[in-house]
Amino acid sequence: MDHHDQTIKDFGEQWLRYPDNEGFYGSLELFSDILFPFLKPEEIRGCKVAEIGSGTGRIVNMLLAAGAEHVVAVEPSDAFEVLRRNIRQPEKVTCLKIMGNQLPSYGDLDYIFAIGVLHHIKDPGPVVQAALKALRPGGKFLVWLYGKEGNTLYLLLLKPLRIITKQMPHFILATLVEIIYWPVAFYVSLCHRFPLPLRGYMLWVFERFSPGKRRLAIYDQLNPSYAKYYSQKEAKGLLEEKEFKNVLVHHRHGYSWTVIGTKP
Ligand SMILES: C[S@@+](CC[C@H](N)C(=O)[O-])C[C@H]1O[C@@H](n2cnc3c(N)ncnc32)[C@H](O)[C@@H]1O
Repeated sequence: MDHHDQTIKDFGEQWLRYPDNEGFYGSLELFSDILFPFLKPEEIRGCKVAEIGSGTGRIVNMLLAAGAEHVVAVEPSDAFEVLRRNIRQPEKVTCLKIMGNQLPSYGDLDYIFAIGVLHHIKDPGPVVQAALKALRPGGKFLVWLYGKEGNTLYLLLLKPLRIITKQMPHFILATLVEIIYWPVAFYVSLCHRFPLPLRGYMLWVFERFSPGKRRLAIYDQLNPSYAKYYSQKEAKGLLEEKEFKNVLVHHRHGYSWTVIGTKP
């Protein structure tokens, strides 16, 4: 099995074990934070949109809560059934069990989102190309990616750890997450006092998750078979290479990239 198939299999299993989107993790407040500073949820009202890599439907439900008229939800893994179960207004959603690069070329979508997805795809170019074709002229593609800048120390720890953890069966990985959870909780408390690495993420995002979702956030870092941490240049290039215009990049909480581009 290649990296790509394995990553999709990993996510299928992950979302079957962690199927809900409770609390701040699934909230419109977090969605505003993800879209900042390029879009406000209100701008999605009445729009035709798509999300590539929908997982459990967390972002799809945020888009519905923001008032999207119609959402196309793309999810290739076994999480597809979880996605279908979780969607709050199924009459407004088309669920497609396909890869992102197979997104139909609708040509009339106002916005497409790929939140936490492209960094798990070794060659994301065809997915970006498919998004370009599915948008209307003037439509926008908003992508959220793991960042390289701001994560130097974290990646020194994470990269060697992931060599082992991405191979682990669920019950061993879940036990390890339980062990790691407590030092991370201590680290969060230190972030309140000191300007430590990842402070922005820890205080504005991670700490606001329920204990279950904090465990999921740790699991999600250790489980997927493929994960790339993008430099600012690479993040911007991802959209510019496929001819998106006015590509803008925001260093979200100093550890990740929100990128937006417009179809000419
Ligand atoms: C980290 S999850 C993000 C889920 C959702 N966007 C969210 O933020 O809650 C990444 C998702 O992308 C999906 N994925 C992986 N490769 C994909 C591909 N080539 N095309 C579309 N989705 C893909 C995975 O199956 C997984 O559900």
